[in-house]
Order: sequence, then structure tokens, then C-alpha cells
Amino acid sequence: MKFNVKVPATTANFGSGFDAVGMALKFYNELEIKTGYKNNTGNILTIEGEGRDKLPKNDKNIIIKSMAEACKCANRNPVSVLKGLEIKMINRIPLARGMGSSAAAIVSGLVAANHMLDNRLSSYDLLNIANRLEGHPDNVAPALFGGVCISVLDGSDVKCIKIRPPVELDFIVCVPQFELSTQKARKILPENVSLKNAVFNLSRASLLVGALAYRQYNLLSLATQDKLHQPFRRKLVPGMEEAFKKAVASGSLAVFLSGSGPTLMAIAEKKACKSKIIGQSMSKAFKSKNINSFVHVLSVDSIGAKVNA
Ligand code: HSE
Repeated sequence: MKFNVKVPATTANFGSGFDAVGMALKFYNELEIKTGYKNNTGNILTIEGEGRDKLPKNDKNIIIKSMAEACKCANRNPVSVLKGLEIKMINRIPLARGMGSSAAAIVSGLVAANHMLDNRLSSYDLLNIANRLEGHPDNVAPALFGGVCISVLDGSDVKCIKIRPPVELDFIVCVPQFELSTQKARKILPENVSLKNAVFNLSRASLLVGALAYRQYNLLSLATQDKLHQPFRRKLVPGMEEAFKKAVASGSLAVFLSGSGPTLMAIAEKKACKSKIIGQSMSKAFKSKNINSFVHVLSVDSIGAKVNA
């Protein structure tokens, strides 16, 4: 058997929707899998692109761990299902930048294993396993389903709804050349928030969902404002405030930290033709802090993880 799994990058939080709102982007990692390696004995894992010199190429790799977890949840022995695999990871999503690289790895492993298990697990089984492995649902849900996903934890069970993908928008990602682990960016957040700040965010996150669903893009600037995570993470991302100001001055509809950062995400209507200039303005702001960055102008991915057999 030979097949390929393609999984999108994702942006989480969308400003105000901390740990709840996420969106898939047309920017992909791929897995190529062949079974029957060396008459079904060992495994071989190769990595091309991001993380090729850094990520483990053995059972400690998150892809293999996710595949094993899917087998266990489907009541199959991982040792017998996962033997003799030739796995090639083609990584384009940069690591530890807030673009959902770990979610993409987890989801690709789960989807690949489920394909080998004749899709015994439902999409919602996969979402719940992925959330357990990742620790929060807002990247893994859009990585699996595509589009904009609103996820809620009901105990340990994830409920998720996918809303109309905002296809008229450009998503301008400015990726600075330094890593920031989600673990570090979560540690800096306070345990408790005031009622005032909770209301600030929940009203804006609700507005955000309405603004996206009803194409009221003029409301995105207000709807993406946040007091739960960005003010605390600012000190981990030098140049963030300056880049936000530049993006707004260059005509973006909204700008926020992508996931836990350090990538910044600006939004513009495609028809406004301002996306390139917005990207350059954010990159310049990082440069003024001696930080190099690269920019991608991306669209929403509406499909999510996909197997090509
Ligand atoms: N919601 C998560 C966080 C996303 O902000 O910590 C991490 O990519």
C-alpha cells in the first residue's frame, strides 16, 4: 500500500478567540507512506524541510506516537499495524512559530493510521485524540476539518462547529526567524482574569464569529481585540506592537498574534490588493529590531486533512 496525507497549517485564537477559534490555511505538510518495508520488519522515517535535522526519526517522533495512539483507540496492536512502514515527512510549516506545526504532525499521523485501519475511527474520534495529544483544540480542529472551526471542551470531549470559510480574505503571515514554544508562551499567562477582561474577550469572540459568518469584515478590527493573551505575550515577541501599527497603517482589516506566536497574522480583502504592502510593512518593523522574517500571503483552506491513495 502507498498513500499520501496532506494537512494544512493553522492559525489559532484569531485575536479574541483564545483556545477556541482556529482556521486552516493553504500551506501544507505532507506524509508519504509505503507499507511492506523490508518484508514488514523495522520502520524507516525520513524528514525533508522544516525540522529535518532536529526532529527525532524514531518512535519518539510525534507522527509515530499519534499513529500508535490511533491504533490503541481502535483496539489494534500498534506493533503489528505499524511494522514495515516507510514514512517520509515533507515539512513546510515552520516549527514553534504559531502556525500549527505540531497540530499538523498529530493530525497527519492520526489520519494516516486511520486510513490503514480502514477508517474505523470517526472524525470526532480523531479530533478528541488530537486534542488530548496537543492539549488544546483550536489548531487540531481546523487541521482536520479545514475552514474556521469553533471548538469547545465539554469536560474532556471536544465539540466543534465549522463556519463558512472567508474566501474573500487574504491572510498575511509574517514569520519572524526565531522560535517560541507554545509551552513557554502559555506559562507567561496569568491563572486568573478579571470579569471585565473576560467580558471584553467573550463579546469580541462572539462578534468575530458573526463577522466571519455574515461577511461583516469591517468589524474584524474590533472583533479580534484581545486582553487574555496578547498583552502578556508581547514581551516574548520584540517588534510585535510596531508591526501591528504598521499593518494597520498599510490598510489591514485586523492584525493579531497567530496562535501563541511569534508569527503575526494580518487580514485584508483580496480585492483591496494591499496584502503585499502590509506584509512588507510588518517585516520592516521586525527588521528595525534586527529580526529577519518572511511573509506569505495565504487563503483559507476549506478542506482540512486529506488522504490521496
Ligand atoms: N490557543 C493556543 C495558545 C494556540 O494560544 O496557547 C497555540 O498555538
